[in-house]
Amino acid sequence: MAKAVVIVGTQWGDEGKGKIVDLYAEDADVIARFQGGNNAGHTLVVKGEQTILHLIPSGILHNNKICIVGNGVVVDPKVIIQEIDDLKSRNLFPPNTNLFISETAHIIMPYHRRLDSARESRKGHKKIGTTGRGIGPCYEDKVARVGIRFCDLLDDKIFREKLNRNVEEKNFFLTEYFKEEPVDEQTIYNEYRIYADRLKQYVTDTSIIIAKEITNGKNILFEGAQGCHLDIEHGTFPFVTSSSTVAGNACCGSGVGPTEIDSVIGICKAYTTRVGEGPFVTELTDDIGNRIQEVGKEFGATTGRKRRCGWLDIVLVRQSVRVSGITGIAMTKLDVLTGIETLKICVGYKIDGKEFTESVPSNLQIVAQCQPVYEEMDGWTEDISKARNIQELPTNARKYVERMEELAGVKVFLVSVGAGRDETIIVENPFAD
Ligand code: GDP
Ligand code: IMO
Ligand code: MG
Repeated sequence: MAKAVVIVGTQWGDEGKGKIVDLYAEDADVIARFQGGNNAGHTLVVKGEQTILHLIPSGILHNNKICIVGNGVVVDPKVIIQEIDDLKSRNLFPPNTNLFISETAHIIMPYHRRLDSARESRKGHKKIGTTGRGIGPCYEDKVARVGIRFCDLLDDKIFREKLNRNVEEKNFFLTEYFKEEPVDEQTIYNEYRIYADRLKQYVTDTSIIIAKEITNGKNILFEGAQGCHLDIEHGTFPFVTSSSTVAGNACCGSGVGPTEIDSVIGICKAYTTRVGEGPFVTELTDDIGNRIQEVGKEFGATTGRKRRCGWLDIVLVRQSVRVSGITGIAMTKLDVLTGIETLKICVGYKIDGKEFTESVPSNLQIVAQCQPVYEEMDGWTEDISKARNIQELPTNARKYVERMEELAGVKVFLVSVGAGRDETIIVENPFAD
C-alpha cells in the first residue's frame, strides 16, 4: 500500500531532519519540501561525504526519485541554482531523479534580504536572530498579496510590473525609514531574467505531479524545515520563523488534501538546541552545555552560528506531538550524550506552584520565570555508534530512549547514533505495510 509520510522537527530546528529524510527517501518515490526556504540547512552524510541542502529536498542523492519544491516554500533563485550546480559538479545529481519547483512558490528578492537585515539591526538587543535570508519579508509579501511567484517571473510583462511596484515601495522603506541605500530595479531585473532562463525547465504545477503519483500507488515523503516551536502559529512567538512548520502545512504547502497523509514522524534530538534568540527553559550555560555543543558539533548549517544547547525538554515534544499529530519519533544524536554521568529530562515547567507539562506558556514573560522540573537518569560510557538494533545499546541508553517514549506518549521508530546514513537503529519503518 502506498504511504504518505510527513517529517517534522519537534524542537527549534536542526534535529537531524536531513539525515532521516535521506534515509527514508530510499522507500519513497516523491520527496517534497512544503515550507521555509534557505533558512533551512539539512545535512546528509553518505559514505563519509557531507552535503548540506538548503532548498533542494533531501531525497536528491537517490536515483529514480521526484524531488519537489512545493508552493509553500520561498525560493531564492540564486541559492537553488548554486545548489543544483554544486550537486552536478560533485556528480551527486542522479540521472533519473527529477527536480520540480512549484509555479506558485514565492521568490526571495534582494530587497527581502535587505529588509530582513535592516530590521534586525534596528531592533538591536530585541532582534530575533534571523538567518538574514529574507524569509520573513518574502512571506510578508505573499500575505500582502504583492509577492512575485515563479509563474510571474516567467512572464516578462507581469514580472516587470510587479518588480516596479515592489521596488518603489521597498525603496521607500529602505531610504526613508531605515536610512539605507535603495535597491536598483534594472539591476534586479537583469539578474532575475538570467535566473528565469536557468530555472524555467524545473517550474510546473507540482500539486498535480504529487496527485498523479499518489494515484499510481507511489510513496510520498514530505520534508519539513525548522521545527514545531519555530512555527508562526504554535511556536515561541515572536522568536519564530515566518512559515507554518507543523505537519498540517505539508498539505497546504504542497497542494495535497489532509486525507492523503498516513503518518507523521517527529524528529527529536536526544537533547535540545536553538539558534538565534528566544526562550529556552532547559538551556545549559555550564560545562555540560559546552560539552554537548562541542561533541554534537552544534554549529548552524546555514549561518555557522554556535547553537545554544540544553537538556531534552518533554514539554516541547508533547506540544509538538499534539499540534503535528505525530505518530512516531525518530530520536537523533543519542551518541552525543555518551559519557555524561547523570542525564536530565525536563518533564514540566514550574512557576508559582503551577506546573506546565503540555505546552510552553504563550506569554514569554511567564516562560522567562519558569523553572524546569527534571527527572534524572544514569548515563552510559560505552561507544554506541556501532549499535544497529536497540538490544545493542547499553541498558542506560535503552532506558533513556524508553523513558522519552513513555513521556512523549509516542513510539520511537528510529534511533540515530551518528551522522552517517547507516549509523541508525531502525525500530519500525513508516512505509512498511
Ligand atoms: P536538520 O536541519 O534538522 O536537517 O539538522 P542539521 O543538519 O542542521 O543538524 C544536524 C547535525 O547533526 C548535522 O551536522 C548532522 O550531520 C548531524 N547528525 C544527525 N544525526 C546525528 C546523530 O545521530 N549523531 C551525530 N553525532 N550527529 C548527527
Ligand atoms: P532547519 O530546517 C534552526 C531560526 C533562526 C531564527 C528564527 C527566524 O535547518 O532546522 P528566519 O531566518 O527563519 O526568519 O529566522 O528561526 N531558524 C532556524 N533554526 N534550524 C532552522 O532550519 C532554522 N530556520 C530558521 O535562527 O532564530
Ligand atoms: Mg538545520
